[in-house]
Amino acid sequence: MTKPITYGMIGGGQGAFIGAVHRMAASLDHQARLVAGALSSTPEKSLASGRDLGLPDDRNYPTWQAMLEGEQARPDRIDFVSIVTPNHAHFEPANAFAAAGFHVVLDKPMVLNSGQAATLAATVAKSGVVFAVTYNYTGYPLVKKAADLVRSGTLGVVRKVFVEYHQGWLATPLEATGQKQAGWRTDPKRAGAGAVGDIGSHAENLVATITGLEIESLCADAATFVPGRTIDDDAAVLLRFKGGAKGVLTCSQVCVGEENNLSIRVYGSEGALAWRQENPNELWHTPRDQPRRLITRAGADAGPQAAAATRLPSGHPEGFIEAFANVYRGVIGAIRAKREGRTPDGLATQFPTVHDGARGVRFIERVLESSARGGVWIPA
Ligand SMILES: NC(=O)c1ccc[n+]([C@@H]2O[C@H](COP(=O)([O-])OP(=O)(O)OC[C@H]3O[C@@H](n4cnc5c(N)ncnc54)[C@H](O)[C@@H]3O)[C@@H](O)[C@H]2O)c1
Repeated sequence: MTKPITYGMIGGGQGAFIGAVHRMAASLDHQARLVAGALSSTPEKSLASGRDLGLPDDRNYPTWQAMLEGEQARPDRIDFVSIVTPNHAHFEPANAFAAAGFHVVLDKPMVLNSGQAATLAATVAKSGVVFAVTYNYTGYPLVKKAADLVRSGTLGVVRKVFVEYHQGWLATPLEATGQKQAGWRTDPKRAGAGAVGDIGSHAENLVATITGLEIESLCADAATFVPGRTIDDDAAVLLRFKGGAKGVLTCSQVCVGEENNLSIRVYGSEGALAWRQENPNELWHTPRDQPRRLITRAGADAGPQAAAATRLPSGHPEGFIEAFANVYRGVIGAIRAKREGRTPDGLATQFPTVHDGARGVRFIERVLESSARGGVWIPA
């Protein structure tokens, strides 16, 4: 029988948002079991949260430091840790667990600055652990198809990319009401950056995932619209890519009425594509001088990459959790391959790594730097 993959979670306790999504995603294919946790920012709440999830007392830890010590001492120690804390509490546990030889899944933005990113990348290289950053939009089947359309040359030479991630939930000073997720996201010490870090970095990652283009330089205008806020809640960025393509990236959390409007359009010399996260089972492809074609997830012409990332027949909608689960499927496949001393294949080679995380952190820094200098062009 295949030995199950086990994991522990840091963050994701009572009242938290994304930890529960990670747990659903990790277990969707019945390939990983949550067996340990240090789930919250205080020992009392951590333990109460672990009891809610049915963690055994001896693996329900008051702090992540206690979990690291406890798990290191066990013969059946966890295979990996999922870190789903606010941004300021990413680097220390990720670096410590990776250094101790645990595989790591960490949410974005990876860390607060490029110095931390470099240290973490060095730790991961030294210990050889599997390390993923949950840029979960990479897991959508039709994002994989979009990447294939570009990489196979079907769109010709890419000329122009538009990507936007627009939300409206921070259009008022929600943080002043005590709302937990708004609280840390608008606190520069705990978030690092505002809209640029929270959602702009997803947009940057989506462009890189689909087009493979590298940003050469950028020119940014970040803003804070809500009075009293001390962090960006909106930004517009012009992009120049190596090779001559150009792009426009906008991200905002003050666009009233917008929910999670992440969308991308890519225009090449031979065709164009368009995809929206809020309708992820559809991808539009327009070959030049021909009518637009609708490619549906698991439908005709979705292709092998999308098929490998799909669980249901066409017409039954898949969404956020399945895409998130594809990142976990990749991680778990990579861990199994490592355990068995073989090279990973398929989805197990297709999840965002520490290098994607580091590039994302650098992007955030450069956007804020360009904006702070008055919206000037700077190297990326
Ligand atoms: N990939 C995505 O789509 C996505 C979506 C939402 C959030 N995120 C990222 O996930 C992270 C968490 O976001 P959230 O919205 O779930 O936040 P949240 O505030 O809802 O939850 C954070 C959890 O971490 C806990 N925590 C804080 N410090 C801790 C510590 N030292 N030890 C253990 N637990 C600790 C909190 O008690 C809470 O349970 C952030 O980095 C965010 O950017 C990613």
